[in-house]
Amino acid sequence: MEKIRVKASSEYDVLVGRGLIDICGELVGKVIKPCRAALITDDTVDGLYAARVEKSFEKSGFKCIKFVFPHGESSKSFANYEEILEFLAENKFTRSDIIVALGGGVTGDLAGFCAASFLRGVRFVQIPTTFLAAVDSSVGGKTAVNLKAGKNLAGAFHQPALVVCDTDTFNTLPEEVFADGVAETVKYGVITDKKLFETMQGNFKADIEKIVAACVKIKAQIVANDEFDTGERMLLNLGHTIGHAIEKCSDFKITHGHAVAIGMAVAAFAAEKEGIAERGTAAEITDTLIKCGLPTTCGYKSAELAESALSDKKRSGGEITLVLPERIGKCCLKKIKTDSLLSFVSEGIEGANKYNT
Ligand code: NAD
Ligand code: GLY
Repeated sequence: MEKIRVKASSEYDVLVGRGLIDICGELVGKVIKPCRAALITDDTVDGLYAARVEKSFEKSGFKCIKFVFPHGESSKSFANYEEILEFLAENKFTRSDIIVALGGGVTGDLAGFCAASFLRGVRFVQIPTTFLAAVDSSVGGKTAVNLKAGKNLAGAFHQPALVVCDTDTFNTLPEEVFADGVAETVKYGVITDKKLFETMQGNFKADIEKIVAACVKIKAQIVANDEFDTGERMLLNLGHTIGHAIEKCSDFKITHGHAVAIGMAVAAFAAEKEGIAERGTAAEITDTLIKCGLPTTCGYKSAELAESALSDKKRSGGEITLVLPERIGKCCLKKIKTDSLLSFVSEGIEGANKYNT
């Protein structure tokens, strides 16, 4: 088992290993005294892992209650957020109790936001069960729900007390869902780590624990430097401005990781056209994503995507910050006027479409 320390405003460990689901209660018990634990999970993960998690928590002295919601991005909603808060209140949860987010990024973001706001903040533990949640969303304390206007528009920074990642849980993931995590892993490679990027071009599944640990180490360092997303942490949004717009335009039929993959390709082609990225960078990113079974184009028009992207959090007044690759392993932040966004998106979409034909 690997242990990675996240040195945020409240520090915690991320534990990565195999077979941790059956001892998660014991692991949590080392950092939190036995208390009541509200397990929040979706209906798919409930059927797969909740009983084992409950058994382990109860064995370590925790008293569990459980809230289950339907799987999928549309559950990351204000309605579910409110229902969970009412559930906690009805069960007379107090600040000495904990929330346990068991599942993918939807569960972690939703349960995390409940933990951030119930009684002005209670402790919570992340038990990620998707590759995406393991490498990204369970670490760093960003929690949120979606609004009609866009992704993650209501949320809070609230760090977990512990993250327990059992990589064996990936064995039950459908290929498409696994690929969502691959997109975020390729993203880490493009941002900071050429070697990790190259690893993702080969047969990487045998090394999954090491890959999760490598991604968590990168994220832990970035979060330690810029927990509240005012500078360096924005690099983690590579592919996300267009990605979030694609998710929204598709009514969330295109999943987060798939949308981010397209967003990365679009950003890379735009960056090359603007002379920011070294020649060949966009092709290398696109080829790698395709090899990993991910899309790099979509049917949406540049104008639709640019319009949708303007309701993103990355907009500030009349400007929006884009993350653009310079080469594999190095990205930069570029502030542009919102009026220039359409031409950036058009350049990127055109480049990606041309490359794919
Ligand atoms: P998800 O939570 O919807 O999970 C995807 C699907 O996999 C669901 O249907 C779920 O039921 C199923 N599933 C989960 N674990 C399983 C398992 N072990 N076996 C079989 N099926 C399983 O989606 P996701 O891709 O994990 O997360 C996407 C979300 O994460 C998006 O809402 C995105 O905005 C968010 N996100 C947040 C951050 C952050 O920093 N907070 C970072 C990246 C992404
Ligand atoms: N996933 C982006 C971040 O945590 O900042």
